Parts: sequence; structure tokens; C-alpha cells
Amino acid sequence: MTTDALQIELRKAERSRIQEVDFNHLPFGKHFSDHMFVADFVDGQWLNQQIVPFDNFTLSPALSALHYGQSIFEGMKAFKNEAGEVLMFRPYANFERMNESARRMCMATLTEEVFMGGLEALLRVDADWVPTAPDSSLYIRPYMFAMDTFLGVAPSKTYRFCIFTCPVGAYYSNPPKLKVETEYIRSAPGGVGYAKCAGNYAGSMYPTLLAQQQGYDQLIWTDAREHKYIEESGTMNIMFVIDGKLVTPAVSDSILKGVTRDSIIQIARSFGIEVEERKVSIEEVIGGIESGRLTEAFGAGTAVVVSPYSLIGYNGKDHMLPEFSPENSLAVKIKNYLTDLRTGKVEDTFGWVHKV
Ligand code: COI
Repeated sequence: MTTDALQIELRKAERSRIQEVDFNHLPFGKHFSDHMFVADFVDGQWLNQQIVPFDNFTLSPALSALHYGQSIFEGMKAFKNEAGEVLMFRPYANFERMNESARRMCMATLTEEVFMGGLEALLRVDADWVPTAPDSSLYIRPYMFAMDTFLGVAPSKTYRFCIFTCPVGAYYSNPPKLKVETEYIRSAPGGVGYAKCAGNYAGSMYPTLLAQQQGYDQLIWTDAREHKYIEESGTMNIMFVIDGKLVTPAVSDSILKGVTRDSIIQIARSFGIEVEERKVSIEEVIGGIESGRLTEAFGAGTAVVVSPYSLIGYNGKDHMLPEFSPENSLAVKIKNYLTDLRTGKVEDTFGWVHKV
């Protein structure tokens, strides 16, 4: 069977696994929906577009991606509106960023037909997996990796693109404790920090583990030259409310251009909040907590959405952030608006919501 005019082969699962999942308790990234979309880049073209049951791949031990790390991914989310229609949030922003990552990693770029066509077809087949409980969504993981079986260090000529999805609840169950990292770095000018490539996450694990052994949940990365300016956090961009303004590090080649980050900035501006995208020093943040000028610090990302922090540790001292009062918190106001937008409860004046 093929889906629509897109020539995507469809092989449906014989039995759905949906009954095995407790939609009221959804850990992040553990339950996978019934199907996945797969396409292969061969001879300069995307071929063999298929939707098949979620299952293992058979791969060569010499697979280039496993040795030299040509591997990139995206994170996106889908929701349902009150009529039960599936809504994706800003999928074209992820499509463009995936191709930016692909170019930096010397990989094949995706066509809109393959990315959007595969995504839409997959969401239609697995629409029942989109959760509706508060704080839950269907997390979508598009990714691509090098398929050549060759040990020379050179860009692969063949790639696999895959999309699978997972129903998820909140990423953090409690506001995370952050430690400012002043020894290790995540990325450096001229590096690959802005690309969503697998190696960025691998390189962050050891310093994060050390921080976790000290009782923190995540890191705040600082710049590679001086460890003076804030860059981003482990799985999210970072934002502050200082003197009532929304302040966030300006993006650069060492910071991921978060789609949630950009959405929050645009929403805040539409609320009439002043937004500053600029260098943010750790001294300014710690000084702001101590003087009371900094009232909120939170992470922004697809997985975490808007995630208020509870404390920031710097040079061996923990600085407690003010308790959130939901009525006064900008983060809460923005998160609620974002949720209403993504679930079709408020009018989409930004043109971000894409109905499947
Ligand atoms: C996302 O927010 O989608 C991410 O990519 C973070 C992920 C590594 C959990």
C-alpha cells in the first residue's frame, strides 16, 4: 500500500501496542508509537520512503556514523485540539534547522517533500498516539545518520533519515538545580555548537555526570574563552527575567538556535515585554539573584518547554532562585500561552500551528 501521492510505502503493524501504555504516566522517551518513517539517500536522491512498524535496524559494524559521528537530529511536538485534530508546532523551523545541521556536518540535506511528507504521513498513521492530558504531547524525533560502510574519514555518500514518535509527559518532575560549568566546555567559536549533532550531547555527558554527583540536575555552559558568559543549558536554551525584562544569551555559532527560545521571545514581545538578546555574564546573574533584580531563571526547549530552575550553583556556592508565584511569573504566563497556542485554544496569530 502507498500513502497519498507521495509514494510512501505503508506497512502497518499487525497489532498496535497502544493499550500497553499508561497515558496518565508518560516518562520522557520510553514509549514508542507503532510506526516509523524511513527514507534512504542513495546516488544523490532520497529513495525508498516507507512507513513501517517501529523496529530495529540491521546495520553494518563498519557504519560510518558509528565511528565518525555524522549523525544529527531534531525534537518537535504534536498536540490535539478540542476537535481531536493533530497539530504540529513550527515544523518548518525544525526542517530548516535540520538542514543547517546537515550542512555543517557535511551530510545530505532533506527535501521538504521527504521531511514534511514523511512527518505528516506518519502522524496520520499514528494519530491515536497523540496524548491529550495536560503537559503531555507527542514528541517527534526526526534524525539522520551516515550509512556508508567505510573506515576512511570522509563524508558518507549514503544516509538514512528516520522519524519516530513517543507520547511524553513533563521532562522534569521538579524544577532542576543548575550548576555553572567553569572547567569543561560544550562548544567553541568555529565549532559545531549550533548544529543539533549527536556528538554535542555525547561530549556533555561527563561534565553533567560530575555535576549530578554533586547534587545538581543540569549544567549551565559558559563561553569557551573565559567561562564568563552564559551560553545554554544541557538540553535547553536559558532565559532570565531581570528588572522585568526577558534577557537571554544571543545565539551564535556555539549556541543552538532553539525553536522554543524563538517562540518565547516573539510571544514576550507580543505581550509588550522588553526582550534583550545579548551577552549575559554569570556575574550579572549571580549579582541579580543577590540584589533581587533577577526574579526568574528558566530553560526553554522542545522537550522541557518552559522549565523554571530552583537554584544556580556557582564556584561552590548555591544561589536559590525566588519561589515562583504563578500569578506573577512571566515564565508561567508564556508557558500557558504557548500551550494554548499549540493545542489550538487561542488564535494562531503567528502562523506557527500546522494542522495535519
Ligand atoms: C529537545 O528539546 O527536543 C531536545 O532535543 C532535547 C533532547 C536532547 C532531550
